[in-house]
Amino acid sequence: MQQPATQSQDQSLDEFWMPFTANRQFKSRPRMLESAEGMFYTDVEGRQIIDGTSGLWCCNAGHGRKEIAEAVSKQIVKMDFAPTFQMGHPLPFQLAERLVEIAPKGLDRVFFTNSGSESVDTALKIALAYQRARGEGTRTRLIGRELGYHGVGFGGISVGGMVNNRKAFGVQLPGVDHLPHTLDLERNAFTRGLPKHGAELADHLEKLVTLHGAENIAAVIVEPMSGSAGVILPPVGYLKRLREITAKHGILLIFDEVITGYGRVGAPFASQRWEVTPDIMTTAKGLTNGAIPMGAVFVSEQIQQAFMHGPKGLIEFFHGYTYSGHPVAAAAALATLDIYARDGLLTRAQELEIYWQEGLHSLKGMHHVIDIRNTGLVGAVHLASREGEPGARGYEVFEACYWDGLMVRCTGDIIAMSPPLIVEKSHIDRMINILGDVIRRTP
Ligand SMILES: Cc1ncc(COP(=O)(O)O)c(C=O)c1O
Repeated sequence: MQQPATQSQDQSLDEFWMPFTANRQFKSRPRMLESAEGMFYTDVEGRQIIDGTSGLWCCNAGHGRKEIAEAVSKQIVKMDFAPTFQMGHPLPFQLAERLVEIAPKGLDRVFFTNSGSESVDTALKIALAYQRARGEGTRTRLIGRELGYHGVGFGGISVGGMVNNRKAFGVQLPGVDHLPHTLDLERNAFTRGLPKHGAELADHLEKLVTLHGAENIAAVIVEPMSGSAGVILPPVGYLKRLREITAKHGILLIFDEVITGYGRVGAPFASQRWEVTPDIMTTAKGLTNGAIPMGAVFVSEQIQQAFMHGPKGLIEFFHGYTYSGHPVAAAAALATLDIYARDGLLTRAQELEIYWQEGLHSLKGMHHVIDIRNTGLVGAVHLASREGEPGARGYEVFEACYWDGLMVRCTGDIIAMSPPLIVEKSHIDRMINILGDVIRRTP
């Protein structure tokens, strides 16, 4: 393949099969990042790009945090790896204790994974095994939601509801059903904060209970706020209603907080911001500020206790990853939590929310803009699709933003932004200016 000018002539781009990427398109004009500091990436041509997406919703404390780098390098020298199967080392115990301190009350046990997808599959397995352990073994059905994103494992794509992530694979978990999504442009377009209309969409769960029988349903999994599908917010009262219905029927409620966790919506977890506590909560990404892969699943002591029966020498839950509680990842997470606490980052999104909101909503009235959504330090500008070319306009805006020095995400024609929680007002102005300019000149 012909190399672009920015690449070393020796560097082939063919071998790396890039994830969730239009490989041929990317390789014809690569966007190649080289270093990162604070709010900015620098690409291989020396161009500064303001990070409007915290990498991929993960670098909540900004880039290049020395404390994390030091903790990682110290740990890798001291002990690079140790198993957590029938062995232990102090760091994951310390980390679990620290995490429980900031977690929603009642979620006080932690199972470590390496990613959001693994957290989701772990949560689904805990839910199924828990129902069996408490003598409710017929509860095998899982309920997700349309437009949900729960990673790419077979469990995650089964409960997920984004068609492109499902349709090529045929095989999925049996016995899965979905709630309707909560995106309603007709009633809620341009709402500042949580939409007013749509709490009743949670009542659809009652219909699924009538259809399948509560005794056959193990769990419902939703993102408190759908991130990947384009920042779809929970209508006021919706999550509470889901909580009431699941509790009434003995169904576990799982919140997938892989994006909303660690400060994104203005509290450590969305569950706290919106005052609804699930039975199980999945996290990853911001746990280590994206520096080292790691995920964590939170459950209540009561759920964990249901597994603690039988002979003491018996493994209670036949599940885990070689790297569950990896010492280097745990060191990165502990250093990350220190930064979050010291700099007040887990609540900072609420302090900046109104400024962020007004910046985003200043784009209302521009051509193509059909909705703007925001909460905490996350937002989306929803563009009208071009006739017969869904996604084309969104991609063009995404690409032009990059070349103008702003990193955003696009999902179809929705532009999503979630800047590091260290963002200053001047950065917000810069991001909105670039995005506005790009939308203005996009046909
Ligand atoms: C809500 C949610 N769950 C799960 C995942 C999957 O995480 P990972 O890509 O780390 O497997 C994501 C990733 O964006 C996510 O947003």
